[in-house]
Amino acid sequence: MTSLTDPFGRKIEYVRLSVTDRCDLRCFYCIPQQFKGFEEPEQWLSFPEIERVITAFADLGVEKIRITGGEPLVRKNLPELAQRLSAIAGINDLSLSTNAVQLARHAKALHLANVSRINVSLDSLDPQRFKHITNGGKLDKVLSGLMAAKAAGFHPIKINMVVMRGVNDDEVQEMVNFCIQHDFTLRFIETMPMGDTGRDAINHYLSLDVVKRQLQQQFELIPGVMPGGGPARYMQVAGTDLKIGFITPISQHFCETCNRVRISVDGTLYLCLGQDDKLELRPLLRDGADHEAIKQAIIEAIARKPERHEFREKPEQVVRIMSITGG
Ligand code: 5AD
Ligand code: SF4
Repeated sequence: MTSLTDPFGRKIEYVRLSVTDRCDLRCFYCIPQQFKGFEEPEQWLSFPEIERVITAFADLGVEKIRITGGEPLVRKNLPELAQRLSAIAGINDLSLSTNAVQLARHAKALHLANVSRINVSLDSLDPQRFKHITNGGKLDKVLSGLMAAKAAGFHPIKINMVVMRGVNDDEVQEMVNFCIQHDFTLRFIETMPMGDTGRDAINHYLSLDVVKRQLQQQFELIPGVMPGGGPARYMQVAGTDLKIGFITPISQHFCETCNRVRISVDGTLYLCLGQDDKLELRPLLRDGADHEAIKQAIIEAIARKPERHEFREKPEQVVRIMSITGG
């Protein structure tokens, strides 16, 4: 079997697949309030088209797929897609990133569809503040979604918290306690300058070094490991089962170990979260390219994968908002 290696020697074994750019929340750092630029359904890859693309990646050695959005659960029949993806030969790790608003309803079906791991975005445990950050979201729905995921058997469940100065940085300790109590894994994320909204939010940027030092006054943190932990560096809270991941795209970038590419809902293969280099797969799929041609196009695209993002040097450069490429 061929494998995908880029010019910097990085093996590409992980695809993040966005199944919609829409979302049932509007976190202020992500989607602009009046945003109207969503893709129309004709442009969305259909389930059979997604299957063709992922089969090509699987043939090229990709084993890991994460379904993202926008909010993936707003795409109709998502558990059916999950089932189809997990049935592709070679795909042995299927996971999902969600805001959990609709998770209570779908948790069981997703578990049955062989989704093995779930990440949930949650920036606040205070209902009012959650509502403010997400522009109207209801915290109780997210909490019942989380409990349903636990009851359905998902483990680990990871909570992703974007820590923002003056917005939610006073809740870090409470989030730690919440995750200890429920046996969730916790990951802190630095704000990235994704689109105009992300650039505005950069005013709230907080280096996770500061957060770590704060936590060390309360808890003893010992270096930990987490299988499949990706770019997060993990610490274990001594005396508990809690692992805390620190995702630091800004203060300490991790591009040299990047093993992933991203596919947006319209079938664009993005080679880097912070760069515009891409391959449009949809025209190939719809103009009758066969399996080998698609594989070849992917191989050629990977040869153009940029070495790194430049969030720090050129924060104005990223025009895409996160709900297009799914983080
Ligand atoms: N910076 C960091 N994370 C972001 N997300 C969305 N926009 C940004 C940004 N500008 C994250 C959300 C969630 C996922 C969908 O992407 O918090 O975890
Ligand atoms: Fe939706 Fe996630 Fe963006 Fe919030 S960050 S608006 S939950 S896609």
